[in-house]
Amino acid sequence: MNGDASPVVLELDNVVKRYSVGSEVVRAVDGVSLTLCAGEIVALHGPSGSGKSTLLMLAAALMAPDSGQVRFEGRDLGRFSAVEAANYQRRQLGFVYQSFHLMAGVPAVENAAIKLLADRTPLRQARRASVPWLERVGLASRLNHTPDQLSGGERQRVAIARALINDPRLILADEPTGSLDTQRGGEILELLAEICHQQRAAMLLVTHDPQAAAIADRVCVMRDGKLLPAGTAAASPTILRRQAAR
Ligand SMILES: Nc1ncnc2c1ncn2[C@@H]1O[C@H](COP(=O)(O)OP(=O)(O)O)[C@@H](O)[C@H]1O
Ligand SMILES: [Mg+2]
Repeated sequence: MNGDASPVVLELDNVVKRYSVGSEVVRAVDGVSLTLCAGEIVALHGPSGSGKSTLLMLAAALMAPDSGQVRFEGRDLGRFSAVEAANYQRRQLGFVYQSFHLMAGVPAVENAAIKLLADRTPLRQARRASVPWLERVGLASRLNHTPDQLSGGERQRVAIARALINDPRLILADEPTGSLDTQRGGEILELLAEICHQQRAAMLLVTHDPQAAAIADRVCVMRDGKLLPAGTAAASPTILRRQAAR
């Protein structure tokens, strides 16, 4: 758990995000408030369609809320210019997308380095920086493979190396172990936790992986766009499991 002195990294304050499709409105995120401190790992569970990915996109400044505020280190992401948002995404954030979003035809060593390249790091230096990260996720022998030459699990691991390469202050991970077997998934969760603690980063981890409970400081549950109150039996699979064991 966090000490009281840990600085706040991410704060969501009564955040609402709706999608309109024709005449229908979906309140994908419906009044969510959540605080993450440096070094803290929060696991986010919830059924499909409950708003988890939308919540991560709001925290990543990939979209703006309709109301409420999302703050990174006290700064309102809603007030960021396009350039500030891009810098935030390249320099402060590590995002592991549910569907990887790797660049087709680009070798792993450059895919993992994409944030550095976007930030104008020379190619050779960017490639050099990405090698140790690919080694850490177990891809030392796949550096020059393009995404179509990698398995789903290997693509996932390139995406994780890419997320971590900029020493992010905030890690947002959407089902990062979804394509991995149990052992590899456990290793990746441990790596994410280790990075988080070493670098005092905060991590919001959307996952159904039961192994995530072991690395999370808190487990939150989303349902119909709302966060269930922390600590209630329904909000905590750990508590549910403990109760079941009694
Ligand atoms: N681009 C979109 N346009 C319209 N509705 C969307 C869009 N993205 C998500 N939704 C809807 O918003 C709700 C939350 O979606 P999402 O955040 O992807 O949930 P989760 O990640 O928990 O599965 C769902 O009902 C989904 O159908
Ligand atoms: Mg999702």
